[in-house]
Amino acid sequence: MTETIDFDFTSDSYNERYYDVLAKLRATCPVARSESMGGFWVLTRYDDVSSAARDWQTFTSAQGVGLAEVENQPPLGPIELDPPQHSELRKILNPFFTAPCVAGIESAARLQAAELVDRFIDAGQCDFHAVFARPLPGLVLLGHFLELPKEDLPQLQEWAEAAIFEQASDSEHAQTGFRNIAGYMAAVLEQRAASSERKNDLIDALVNNTLDGAPLSAELRIGSLIVLLLGGLDTTTSVLNEMCRHLAEEPALRRRLQKNPDLHSMAIEEFLRLYSPGTLGRVATKDVVIGGRHIAEGDRVLLHFASTNRDGDQFPNPDVLDPERNACRHLAFGAGPHRCIGSNVAKVSLRAGLEQLLTRFDELELDPARSPTYVTSQARGATSMPIRFTAAR
Ligand code: HEM
Repeated sequence: MTETIDFDFTSDSYNERYYDVLAKLRATCPVARSESMGGFWVLTRYDDVSSAARDWQTFTSAQGVGLAEVENQPPLGPIELDPPQHSELRKILNPFFTAPCVAGIESAARLQAAELVDRFIDAGQCDFHAVFARPLPGLVLLGHFLELPKEDLPQLQEWAEAAIFEQASDSEHAQTGFRNIAGYMAAVLEQRAASSERKNDLIDALVNNTLDGAPLSAELRIGSLIVLLLGGLDTTTSVLNEMCRHLAEEPALRRRLQKNPDLHSMAIEEFLRLYSPGTLGRVATKDVVIGGRHIAEGDRVLLHFASTNRDGDQFPNPDVLDPERNACRHLAFGAGPHRCIGSNVAKVSLRAGLEQLLTRFDELELDPARSPTYVTSQARGATSMPIRFTAAR
């Protein structure tokens, strides 16, 4: 008989005891079955998730990577396409995400991060989420990478957060968020198609390229921009918040990183490993056995990337942030054909955030009067991160 578990994204216990729940699952029920949201399997161990993410023939993305049904949703390319269509679309998008290409936005992102800190550094306290972690990735993605109007960010962010975090608790609000982003992106694409000016950027590439010899469908163009926005905002925000929290709670690590810039890039990998925000869904295309459990064709399967990165069989002392650990094998960005296309963009914001956290604050601590708050759905992130500090002079 199959053991079922209480794995409800909306439950307080999952949100409050997130890492304990995942540790227990890895130890006692690594291939778990939840009956919430229509029923699905949850893979929590590194090896199982890593293999399933690479085996797209058995675990398709083409039937959606969310657990909640979204009505009339355009296909979210590339995340909800399987090869070979997926590979063709990635070929169109990949050139805009290479390290050298993204390096062009690094200095603008650092300036942007410094400007955000300028606004609150003399106040002695703030909600780091509201004033820094939430706006920075959007300003970098919209303002510098996609070159869309920064003034549109607050509205897009509100819609994106509803679409991601409210899919289980308030699906109508989530769907409205989704539809609104789709409408916004459709207008962006229409404007570009009507313009005679060529910018040779990612939006032009979506407008002008072909897939299977035919122009990309309007739906696929819109879906691609939606997934870039949904993939790029809350994920990076979530890691920035945890970076701040961790450095506030472990001042010795902050001092060590201040003195050793050569540890920064591995420290960022560790922040990503420890605080991966994401889980993604798949559907089994045939009957398959994992860890002794029979997963049937058509079953939904959740790949818990966040859990894999605290799997002690892969990472000794998994809960410790060790900037000398070579953590590059972490699955924060996934694995296989769908591995995150935006990892270089995310790291631009994470480097800019780390620089500010190490250089602009003298004392830094969590505000003892107000605890951080979190929301957990298929993704997890802080919704407030109150801190107190003194400015570095
Ligand atoms: C810390 C930040 C980020 C994390 C942790 C993250 C995580 C992930 C993960 C786990 C996947 C794999 C999805 C799957 O297997 O189904 C993914 C895919 C993707 N991410 Fe990210 N992501 C981040 C930032 C970004 C950014 C900044 C962008 C956009 C600029 C982005 C765009 C995408 C896209 C388009 C995909 C789909 C790729 C494909 O299906 O080929 N992500 N991301």
